Amino acid sequence: MSKTYKIAVIGGDGTGPEVVAEGLKVLNAVSRKCGFKYETIKYDFGGERYMRTGEAMPESAINELRQADTIYLGAIGHPDVKPGILEHGILLKLRFTLDQYINLRPVKLYPNVETPLRDKGPNEIDFVVVRENTEGLYVGNGGFFKKGTPDEVATQLMINTRKGVERCIRYAYEYTRKRNQEKKLTLCAKTNVLTYSHDLWQRCFYEVGDEYKDIKTDYAHVDATCMWMVKNPEWFDVIVTCNMFGDIITDLGAMIQGGMGIAAGGNINPEGVSMFEPIGGSAPKYTGKGVINPLAAISAMQMLLEELGETEAASRIEKAVVKTLQTKLKSLSAGKMGYSTSEVGDFVAQFAVE
Ligand code: IPM
Ligand code: MN
Repeated sequence: MSKTYKIAVIGGDGTGPEVVAEGLKVLNAVSRKCGFKYETIKYDFGGERYMRTGEAMPESAINELRQADTIYLGAIGHPDVKPGILEHGILLKLRFTLDQYINLRPVKLYPNVETPLRDKGPNEIDFVVVRENTEGLYVGNGGFFKKGTPDEVATQLMINTRKGVERCIRYAYEYTRKRNQEKKLTLCAKTNVLTYSHDLWQRCFYEVGDEYKDIKTDYAHVDATCMWMVKNPEWFDVIVTCNMFGDIITDLGAMIQGGMGIAAGGNINPEGVSMFEPIGGSAPKYTGKGVINPLAAISAMQMLLEELGETEAASRIEKAVVKTLQTKLKSLSAGKMGYSTSEVGDFVAQFAVE
C-alpha cells in the first residue's frame, strides 16, 4: 500500500486561511493525477485563538506536529495582538522546537511578472537564498539592566555555533550541487565588522567548500549583496547567510521577483518535520474579500511536495503557476488580479493536471 502523507495545516490569521484553501485545492488536484494519498489535520493557531485562550499554542500541539510528515502554514499576525507574541509563540516556536534549521527562499522572476528592476527579466532574476533559521540574533539571548532609567543597558547576543553554521553551509553546498545551474555558492556575511561570529561563518564556508570542488565559491558583504541584488541579480545562483541577514535580503528578493503575492519559503529540517509558507504577512485589511493573491501559498505547496519527494506533482504546480501568470493574471496585487482568490486557485488546479 502506498503511504498516506499526514499534512498539518495551520491557516493562521487574516488572509492566511483563504490562500491555504487554494493551496489545498491544488494539492487535491495533483494528488489524484500523480496517485499519492494524504490526510490533513487542521489547527486553529493564530490571533483569534490566542485572544480566546490566552495561549498561542499548547505544548501538546507541538508533540502532535512532530508526528506529521509536513506542515503547511498560511500567515501569522493579528492587528489586535501585540506584535511579537504570535511570531514568538507560533512561528519562531515551531522553527526552533522542530529544529527547522534551513529557511529556503527561492527568488525567481516568472515570465509576465513585473519587476521594479529596469532591464532585468527571468534570465537575470533566478537564485535561491539559504538562510540559517535557528540561531544568530533570533535566539533571544539578552536582557535589560536598569531598564527605563537614563543608564539603561540592553543586550541581544548573536549566537552562532559551529554545529549550526556548519549544517547550514553543508546544506547550501548540497543544494547548489543538486540545483545544478551555475554551481556557484555565495556567502553573504559581514566579516569586516562581525569579526568573531562571521569569522566562524567564513572559516566554515571555505573548510566545508574543500569537500565540494565542483562548486564555485564567492563572498559578498551583506550591504554589497543588497546592492548587487538590485544591480546585477544574475550574479547569484545560491546565497547562504545567517538568520538576520537572510530575513532582510529575502524581503528585497521578494520585491524583485514580483512582490509578496508570489514569494514562498520553506522552514526545513532535512531530518525531521518541515513547514512551508507564503512569506508575506496576514494582510488583515483584505481578509474575507476574496481578493488576495494565492500564488505564493500555492508555490509554498509546490515546495512542500518537492520536499516530500513528490517531484512530478511539484513541477506540475510550477508549470501551472507560470501558465496562470502568462495567460490569466493582470497583476499580482490584491484586488487587481482580474480574478478572485478562488478563481486563481481554480486555474492553477486545472492547469496542473493537463
Ligand atoms: C519571516 C518573518 C519572521 C522572521 C517574523 C514574522 C518573526 O519576517 O519569516 O521572514 O523574522 O523570520
Ligand atoms: Mn522576514
